[in-house]
Amino acid sequence: MQIGVLFVCLGNICRSPMAEAIFRNLVNERGIEERFIIDSAGTGDWHIGEGPHQGTVKKLAEHNISTQGMYSRELKRNDYDRFDYIVCMDESNIQNALPMLGQKDSLKVFRLLDLLDVPKDVPDPYFTGDFEETYQLCLKGCKALLQKIEEDNNMEH
Ligand code: 4NP
Repeated sequence: MQIGVLFVCLGNICRSPMAEAIFRNLVNERGIEERFIIDSAGTGDWHIGEGPHQGTVKKLAEHNISTQGMYSRELKRNDYDRFDYIVCMDESNIQNALPMLGQKDSLKVFRLLDLLDVPKDVPDPYFTGDFEETYQLCLKGCKALLQKIEEDNNMEH
């Protein structure tokens, strides 16, 4: 059985595609990509079908991470059944996502940076303009997420 990891933000053009691409890169580096299904989605529908924001594309390119083939889509009800980890970027994403997933509360749905010593939201560079800050936090969070998933699923290091 593959492990499903879905990253969720508001527009699915800045933060969740960044986290998705970073997480996929970490998994590829470890050669364990066949164990995963990795995707991202937005709770808003404004950018459906668009590629990631230029700021996200540029920041990832600095780290030799491609966004080719990534397009914004809206979160849907059956994502709840398809994915084991539904990783939101901020608290409002959780509040928006839960009803779309048909849930009141769920241990599957949490914030990426809940895994750090000091839990917090991933700042939205669509509004802050600071894609470097968001990249660094997504990288930290994705490393912690992969470690948690390896522990949860008794994966060898
Ligand atoms: P994201 O950022 O949720 O990180 O993709 C946003 C992108 C677009 C909008 C808001 C946030 N928007 O209002 O269009």
